[in-house]
Formats: sequence, structure tokens, C-alpha cells
Amino acid sequence: MMEPVVGKVSTADEADRHIRHADSSLRGSEGKPETSGTFGAFVRAAGARPRRWWSRRSLFEQFALLSSLVLSLSVAAVGGWVGNRIADGVLRGTSGAAALYMTNFVEPYVQSMDGGGTLSAEDIRRLDGVTELLKSRRHVASVKIWARDGTIVYSTQKALIGRRFTATDLTPSLQGEIRAGMADLQDDDSEFERSLSKPLYEMFLPLYKNETERIVAVAEIYEDAGALLRDQASAIRGAWLVVGSVGLVTLLALFVVVHRGSTTIKRQRSAIKQRFREKVLLHRKNDILKSETEDALRTAARIDDLVHTRLGAELHDGPAQLISFALLRIEGLEQELDGRTPKARALLTEFRSALQDALKELRAIAADLFLPDLGDSGDLAQMLRKIIRAHECRAASVVDFEMTGVPERLPRDAVRCVVRVTQEALNNAFKHSGSHRQTVMVNYCAGTLRLSVRDHGCGFSGTSAKPLSGLGIIGMASRVRALGGTFSVISNLGQGTEISCELHVRSSIAGTDDEHPQDAQPIKSD
Ligand SMILES: Nc1ncnc2c1ncn2[C@@H]1O[C@H](COP(=O)(O)OP(=O)(O)O)[C@@H](O)[C@H]1O
Ligand SMILES: [Mg+2]
Repeated sequence: MMEPVVGKVSTADEADRHIRHADSSLRGSEGKPETSGTFGAFVRAAGARPRRWWSRRSLFEQFALLSSLVLSLSVAAVGGWVGNRIADGVLRGTSGAAALYMTNFVEPYVQSMDGGGTLSAEDIRRLDGVTELLKSRRHVASVKIWARDGTIVYSTQKALIGRRFTATDLTPSLQGEIRAGMADLQDDDSEFERSLSKPLYEMFLPLYKNETERIVAVAEIYEDAGALLRDQASAIRGAWLVVGSVGLVTLLALFVVVHRGSTTIKRQRSAIKQRFREKVLLHRKNDILKSETEDALRTAARIDDLVHTRLGAELHDGPAQLISFALLRIEGLEQELDGRTPKARALLTEFRSALQDALKELRAIAADLFLPDLGDSGDLAQMLRKIIRAHECRAASVVDFEMTGVPERLPRDAVRCVVRVTQEALNNAFKHSGSHRQTVMVNYCAGTLRLSVRDHGCGFSGTSAKPLSGLGIIGMASRVRALGGTFSVISNLGQGTEISCELHVRSSIAGTDDEHPQDAQPIKSD
């Protein structure tokens, strides 16, 4: 049964509450009960705050934060990688050109060597000349020439000539590889270079015997790395500038697109919220209207009962009494005449029988209208028995009555409804079905009260019934619906009729949830 809605029409605040509730259930995780006292709960609680902060950000803000982070990381990774590649490229380019350049200068003065040995004083003098030239032209800091066995055969540091070092790895260069890179100056032979205290660029160049593939020595040349580092820095700056600009432009373009999308979504979201709010309000109004309609129907049913009862009593106490009185007077008149005027006596007999018929009809109508008083006795079983007994006497029929599971207390409206429907259904069976046996069954199960009144008479179809002739069926249906119940009539020609209804009632607090709790009376089940 629909609970009556009490109070004013729902306000916008209430709609907001509904919307917030819907929002939070959509988000899912929010509002879940937290288990306290465990480490898991602590971790969850610690994680809940940033999650809540994050979920409160708009779509655009979330995107802006995430994409900035992702793009910054990508730019950093790509920029770093490109920068390294460029620095490497600059180094390779520089070392390739320098190697060719310097090999041309140095190689002619090591031709006297053949896998070992030393250089002549003349070669050393010429090499000194060459290194001076290289110092001025290419900022060369020092030059060493290694024999294959690791002996320094020439050096700008004369003290090193003739010394042999094992730490310096000449193997790759002895196999033809030109090596270049920033000098780490950890070797024993690099004391002078260390003392310069500036970044140096180091090259190992294989020196070939003229017109052969034979490497006779390896030149180790240290160059001031200042210019190279500047070149590298400017190339890396350029790379960063390009990658950064591309990243920034991409980010800006994405921002514009997402901002537009986000604004559209925001607009649509608020439109949906507005519509939802209106819907909630409409539902509330609808509920209130429904409850008001049910109230009105209930009141109408009560007024109907009252009118019926009063009309029955008025007929019984007024016209019926007067007719009874008139009958008595006719008897008196008959005695007065005492057989003197047979014609008048015959007329009086006719008159008396007409009055007796009228009295019988009046009493029948009054009985039809009569509803047992619910005021003092709310006993559904007793009341049903009362109207069934009255019906059996009046209609000379037999009614089988069965009642199961009905609780002791039920709402008064439900009791009144069941009694009225039973009475009207039995009256119909008497008036229209032609059968002299009816069955009334009432049972209660899981909050549902069911009533069925059945006869095995002529029955009726949609066409044979005269629904407009009376208000019986319409009245029964309206009473049941007023209490939110369901009503049905099943009838087949020649097979009888069954009137049934179902009401949802709460037995435990029955009588107290009724509109007139003081009217509720305990009733017994059969
Ligand atoms: N138990 C019944 N058996 C046969 N016909 C019935 C029965 N109940 C109702 N009817 C048919 O339905 C019509 C409408 O019934 P109702 O609304 O109670 O009005 P009324 O009883 O005043 O005629 C009846 O006139 C009758 O034709
Ligand atoms: Mg009727």
C-alpha cells in the first residue's frame, strides 16, 4: 500500500540531495563504510583524500594535470635522447674531421718506425714543429705517439719519451679504430694534462706505414674541449628548443580541444542535472497527488457508507414505521366495519396487502443499505458472519465461509472495505445469479489480505451485464483502489461469478497506521 505523503511539495534542496545521492552512487567508491582499526583501513583512509581531491577536479583540470605531466615526461625523455644523439653526432663529426686532419700532419714523421723502435731526432724536431702548428691552429694541448708495445716514442712532454705504460689501452686503435671522447685523465701518463685543469678532448689515431695497411704507431692527441662543448651545448639547446616548442604547441592544441569538449560536457551535465531535478520534483508532486486522490477516494467511501447506513435507518425508522402504523390502523378499520360492507372490506384487504408488499420492499432496501457498525466491534470474522447470516435469511441461500491466517488487528479502512465488498458481491449473487449457494474466502499471507466471493449462478459477459444500471461493481472497485489494492471480476455465462480483491496491509502495527487509529479493533481469525 502506498504510504501517505505528508508535508509540502519537495524543494530544490531535496532534489539536490537526490542528485548528490545519484552522483555518489555513480562514483561508486565514495561513501563506502571504512573498516577502522586495521592497517588496511589506515592506508585506504590515507589514499581516500587524494582520490576525493582528484574526483572533485573538473574533467578539464584532470586532463590539464595529467597531460602536462605526461607531455613533460615525454619532452624530457625525447629531449634528453635527442640531445645525447646530437652531442654524440657533434663529437663524431668533430673527431672524424680532426682525425683526418691531424693524421696527415703526423703520419709522415713516423714512417721510420716499423712496429717498434724509436724516432730519430730529426723526426722528433719535425714533430715538434707540427705540434706547434697544431697548438696554434686547433688548440691542441698535447701530443703523444705510442709504439705498438706501449712505449711513448714522442710526446710534447719530453720526459715521457722512452717510457712505457701499460694502463693505456691501445688495442682498438692498433686494430684501426679511431677513438675520440672526453679525456678522463686517470692514466699515469696524463699528469701534464691533469695539471691543465680544463676539459680536454682526447683522440687515438692509428698511424699507418705509407701505402700499406700496417699500423706502426698510435697518436694520442689532447685538444681543448671548450669549443666542442660550446658546440654541443648549442646543438642540445637547439634540440630542446625544437622538442619543447613542439610539445608546448601540442599541449596548447590539446588544451583548446579538451577545454571546448569539457565546456560542452559541463553544459550538458548541468542540463541533465536540471532535468533530473525537475523529474524528482515532478515525482514528488505526483506522489502527493496520488496520495491525495487515495485520501479523497477513502473519504468518498466513508461518506458512501454513512449515506447508505443513514438512508437505511431513515427508511427503516421513517416510512417503514409509518406503513406499519397504517397497517395497524387498517386492521382497526376492518374491525370497525365488521363485515357490514363487503365491498369496502375487499378494498381494505387489497389496500393492506399492497402496504405489506411496500413494507417488505422497504425493509429489503433498508437491509441492503445497512452496514454493520464498525464502531464498537472491529472483529472482521464476526462482522462477516453477521452480514452472511443476514444474507442467508434474506436470500434463502447457503454461504460457505472460510477465513485463514488473518491477524488479530488490521487497519479499520481495510476491514470496512472487505465487509462492503462482501456485502455487495453477495447481494449481486442473490439479485442476478439465480444461485442459492455462495462461497466467501478470506486469507492473509505476507502482508496481503485476499477476499474472494464466488457463486455458481448464471454469470455474465460484458454484453449481458448492465454496468450502467447499478454502481455496485464500480463502487467495489473504487473502494479497493482507494486503499491501493487490486480488484477483479471473473464471470462466464452459465459458470458463475467470482469477485476478488487484494489489499496490502501491515498487520503488526495495524490500527496504528490507519487514519483513525482509535477506531482499530482487534479481530480474530477463524
Ligand atoms: N453475481 C452475478 N451474477 C450474474 N450477474 C451479475 C452478478 N453480479 C453482477 N452482475 C451483472 O452486472 C450488473 C452490474 O452489477 P452492479 O454494478 O452490482 O449493479 P446492480 O446490482 O445495481 O445491477 C448487474 O446488473 C448484472 O447484470
Ligand atoms: Mg449490485
